[in-house]
Amino acid sequence: MNYNKKSVEDIDVSGKKVLVRCDFNVPLDADLNITDENRINGALPTIQYLVDHHAKVILCSHLGRPKNGPEAKFSLKPVAKALSAKLGKEVQMADDVIGADAKAKAAALKDGDVLIIENVRFHKEEEKNDPEFAKELASLAEIYVNDAFGTAHRAHASTEGVSHYLPSVCGYLIQKEIEIMGKALSNPARPFVAILGGAKVSDKIGVINNLIDKVDTLIVGGGMAYTFNKANGYAIADSICEEDKLELAKELMAKAEAKGVKFLLPVDNRAGDKYAPDCHDILVDSDNIPDGYMGLDIGPKTEKLFSDAIKGAGTVVWNGPMGVSEWEKFANGTKAVATAVAESGSVSIIGGGDSAAAIENLGFADKMTHISTGGGASLEFLEGLELPGIACLEDK
Ligand code: 3PG
Repeated sequence: MNYNKKSVEDIDVSGKKVLVRCDFNVPLDADLNITDENRINGALPTIQYLVDHHAKVILCSHLGRPKNGPEAKFSLKPVAKALSAKLGKEVQMADDVIGADAKAKAAALKDGDVLIIENVRFHKEEEKNDPEFAKELASLAEIYVNDAFGTAHRAHASTEGVSHYLPSVCGYLIQKEIEIMGKALSNPARPFVAILGGAKVSDKIGVINNLIDKVDTLIVGGGMAYTFNKANGYAIADSICEEDKLELAKELMAKAEAKGVKFLLPVDNRAGDKYAPDCHDILVDSDNIPDGYMGLDIGPKTEKLFSDAIKGAGTVVWNGPMGVSEWEKFANGTKAVATAVAESGSVSIIGGGDSAAAIENLGFADKMTHISTGGGASLEFLEGLELPGIACLEDK
């Protein structure tokens, strides 16, 4: 896939109506307060550029997964409010997506004005990438800018469909994400170390497969390590395991060995007698977890093993925590690995979603080179898959 895409700087936006697809899929609490503004912050450089260059800016996004049309809890109104504060200017809010209000407000925009239309998923046609819906959306504007990296793995009307009707370029966020992650995959500073965690092998098969061809060391921790350790004949007791992936785990380890890739797994674990923060916990070797216990974090020997492998890395890509890091007593492994990554001086790239949240909660966010705003999107990128929301943009 060609990642050398035209950006907002390669097209004249002055006086033009520009439809910008952002990923404003932000978490909200029960009172509809935004609890993490990273994705809004990520979109600011593009919006500011367009305002400064006298475009008429029309923002669109999804939020959550509404299935039955408009619902207040999925409205983008809180985002409009947060954006107004961050930009220091009024961000108008339309009551609909392609209805009379959005059309009237879009038509009345003056140069430098910003409008946000309602959640594109209030129309079921969005996720179906319906051409008529995409055409209507496109008719609001003269230029399309995709800056929604987090949704670039979806071929939806607002992420792909509209590009068939308008000149289409990327914003700064997509540009930055593909530049940093693309370079890591195509021309990494070595040694290149990948750290994969999280609960399920099945979620990461594609990534492991693709990364084995590129990295020098592959570290596997988190819940999915137990499937690999069981495949190696270890007693894992009640630890999470995907029985139907044991053969695959063996194949992946054999592939790594054949390619000369160092494949590191936990050698000890902190285990609990139930899946709960108040469980009774013990420290055990990974090949001998006693009955009635489940591994919930890596242990100190593994922390050292992994940290030593991370020391001196040129590039580190990390996706998925090492244990149940949201519970204090099982957060040590993730903290130790985060410390090693931060101290390694490497180009460090953190996949979005759970990994990004864990790194932020543990206070390591500013120590990393890049924290992706995409969860699923960054995984698909690391798998080497083509992201439709980027493929559809004009090549340079
Ligand atoms: C995300 O949160 O990963 C993106 O915003 C995509 O959301 P989706 O999984 O609902 O398409």
